Amino acid sequence: MTSKHPDTHRPKPGDRPSARAAGRSGATPPSPHPLADELRPGQSIELLKELHILTREGKLNQDSRRKLKQVYHLYQFIEKLLLELAQQVRAPNPTDDIRAYTSPAGLTLADHGAGKSYLGFILYDLFFRQQGLGHIYGIETRAELVEKSQALASRLGFERMSFLNLTVAESTESSRLPERIDVVTALHACDSATDDAIAFGLQKRARVMVLVPCCQAEVARVLSQHKALSLSRTPLAELWRHPLHTREMGSQITNVLRCLYLEACGYQVTVTELVGWEHSMKNELIIARYTGARKRASAERLRSLLAEFGLLSLLHTRFTSLPDNAVPPLLGEVV
Ligand SMILES: C[S@@+](CC[C@H](N)C(=O)[O-])C[C@H]1O[C@@H](n2cnc3c(N)ncnc32)[C@H](O)[C@@H]1O
Repeated sequence: MTSKHPDTHRPKPGDRPSARAAGRSGATPPSPHPLADELRPGQSIELLKELHILTREGKLNQDSRRKLKQVYHLYQFIEKLLLELAQQVRAPNPTDDIRAYTSPAGLTLADHGAGKSYLGFILYDLFFRQQGLGHIYGIETRAELVEKSQALASRLGFERMSFLNLTVAESTESSRLPERIDVVTALHACDSATDDAIAFGLQKRARVMVLVPCCQAEVARVLSQHKALSLSRTPLAELWRHPLHTREMGSQITNVLRCLYLEACGYQVTVTELVGWEHSMKNELIIARYTGARKRASAERLRSLLAEFGLLSLLHTRFTSLPDNAVPPLLGEVV
């Protein structure tokens, strides 16, 4: 993406540097910004206004203070991972393994189901811009949001951000994205877009995936189809007999399957809660880091769960990168 503006933050009225940043410059320190304690050094006030985290007057209200806290909370998880990757990218003598996993662009990140791209913008402002490396791609199906994000990035001079009007699935094959993407994020990407983001990450050999799944209907639909059969087979099927429970169980099972799949494909997985994410019921944060150790036990567990829940049809649609997936179904398995 091209831009008239340099890719650096220029102070504007109401956009003074924080007290900490001013202290480092050696100049006579101006009076500290009223929000110095709430902001990160060098953070773009203009961006925060555009994202409605700060009011037009550059103030925080109670709601936006909470929003900012939530954004920082998620950012701190991702920052830690990005710092590790940036260190590896910059290492003078990277190991073969690291060289194989380092994309030529420095550090590439794809944010799927980007929406207004506030995650991408915050990551760029706080990390990519300040580190002076890498490129962020926002993938979003709503053309108007893509255009708005593109315009905002140009206005802010965030040159190493691109926004693509594609579905997650389309982006996997698109020549507008590089062959390798280091980091994949998908924050509340709708329904099975999270699964598509995982498929994207596997194809692009991502080193880190950060996923906050949204509601997912696919598994619940299959659970529903086989409900009668399951109820006659196991009392556990009571757990998804009522439609509301089918939906909840569907979501729960989906995320468990996603974690097992990632482990089977060589990722170390942690699951935690996005504390303080009050505006959404969906606050499960899945962080997957590539280690290369493909866990056979996870693959086996995944297959067993699919069989147990009557979900084996997903083996050939969702879990196509599972090692040994070519193995034909066992006698009696419903695929
Ligand atoms: C709930 S919003 C989340 C937006 C943003 N990630 C956030 O957390 O604020 C989900 C976004 O994903 C987009 N989306 C849904 N399915 C998609 C798909 N298959 N590919 C790309 N974008 C998709 C929607 O248009 C919407 O903007």
